[in-house]
This record gives sequence, structure tokens and C-alpha cells, in this order.
Amino acid sequence: MLEHIQEATTFIRQHGITSPEVGVILGTGLGNLFVKEIKNPVVINYNSIPHFPISTVEFHKGKLIYGMVKGKRVLAMQGRFHYYEGYNMKQITLPVRVMKMLGIKTLLISNAAGNMNLKWKKGEMMLIDDHINLQPDNPLRGENFTVLGPRFPDMSQPYSRDLNKKLIGIAKKKKIRLNVGVYAGVMGPNLETRAEYRYLHMIGADAVGMSTVPEVIVANHMGLPCCAISVLTDDCDPDNLKPAVIAEIIKIAGKAEAKLTNLYVELIGQL
Ligand code: HPA
Repeated sequence: MLEHIQEATTFIRQHGITSPEVGVILGTGLGNLFVKEIKNPVVINYNSIPHFPISTVEFHKGKLIYGMVKGKRVLAMQGRFHYYEGYNMKQITLPVRVMKMLGIKTLLISNAAGNMNLKWKKGEMMLIDDHINLQPDNPLRGENFTVLGPRFPDMSQPYSRDLNKKLIGIAKKKKIRLNVGVYAGVMGPNLETRAEYRYLHMIGADAVGMSTVPEVIVANHMGLPCCAISVLTDDCDPDNLKPAVIAEIIKIAGKAEAKLTNLYVELIGQL
């Protein structure tokens, strides 16, 4: 694994991406507007980077984009990898390891998620304060490399208190509604049954999605401060559940994209 990280890092450095300060992962339906904010972009396709998996979901693009945002060197992932695509947990989290090796000091994550909190509505956003890992594997399973992090990483505060505080402040100032809650990470790719939504809400989750948790585990393992925002794309009320339409989910994510971009661009300015 260490060799894979090293080879991918070297390849990316050779392509002019030398010292990013901030990493950004753009989730489903969220990969367009943020990218437009990146000045003088350098673009690398995932399929040219050694050991990077290839995005198999057609609406997930597969590019690394590097450039300036608010005077900071930013490296954005346009498209991410999911466990349901068939890759293992080490493969889907490799880009986070590589971004850390390249030098990022902060990781900003986004995703699309189902909303189980009936006080909120689809189209709104949720700042992730904590998560419940229900995925069937863990990126840290197997030999631990102490150069990367400890065998038993602490997860008492997996999302940076400082970044979350800044985001709440920015949202308030810009009058953007930003709910705060708990994300449940599941394997997918199917959406949940009514009984599963009921269960997930009962155990303390406000939103559910198929990504993010492995990336956050790996970031915490390496001591990399991170934050994550879910765009709530569908209302998951078990007593009134409508069939999920992926095109609709992507459309709702696209509608919230401007608000998410606004928050993250402003946050980058404050780092
Ligand atoms: N469940 C899981 N993942 C999701 C959902 C959902 O309802 N909506 C968007 N991603």
C-alpha cells in the first residue's frame, strides 16, 4: 500500500501538482460549480494515475483538478470511489492518502444523502457532526503502517470542531440554512427499505449515504482535519416513502450545489 501511495503521489507531482494546501471531495451532483471557482486549473484524469481506481458510476466524473481558490492551493476530486463499485476500502480511500502525502492540511468533503429528519427538507444541507459506520469493511483493516497513523485511531471528534464552527458561522452570515446532524454510512447500491430508514433514524442518524465514512476514517488515521456536508436529496419518511429516482436525486443535489460551493469557497478563504 505504501508503494501505491508513493507512486501515485510522485506521478501527480510530476504533473505540476506540487503543494496543495486544501483537498476537496465533490460528491454526487456536486462536481460542477466548485470546479468553476478554481483559477488556472491543472487537470489529471484518474485513469492516468497509477493505482487510482476508475469511477464506474456514469454521473461521477473522474478528475483531479488543482488550482487557486481564494489565494489557496486547492486540489479537488471531481468524483469519488464507492465500496459498492466493487473496489476494496483501501482502494477507495487511496486518493485521501495521496492528497495528504502531497501536503494538504485540511480535507473538505461533500456528498448527497437521504434525509431522515422530518424537521428538515430535501434540498437543504446538513453539516456532519458525527457518523455511524454501517459499511461492512474498514479501510484500516489489516497491517497498520505507523508512518501513516496509529493502530487504534481515536474517533471521539472525527469532524473538526474548528472547521464546523467556521462553517456554521459562514452559513449564519450568508443566511444559508445549514442543519447539523449524524450521517449513517451504508454500503448501497440499493436505497433503503422503509424499515431500514425507520431503523437508521431510531439509532440516531439524520441522513444516510453510501460514501464519506471510509474517507473520514482514513483522514482521522492520518491526523488530517476534515469536515463534511451532506446535500439532502430525498426525504426518507418511512410512513410516506416515495420511490427514489436517481435522476431526481442528482437534480436536487445540483440545485443545492451553489450553496455548498458558497460555503466551501468562503471556508477556504478563512483557512
Ligand atoms: N440512501 C442512501 N444513499 C443516498 C440516499 C438515500 O436515501 N439519497 C442519496 N444518497
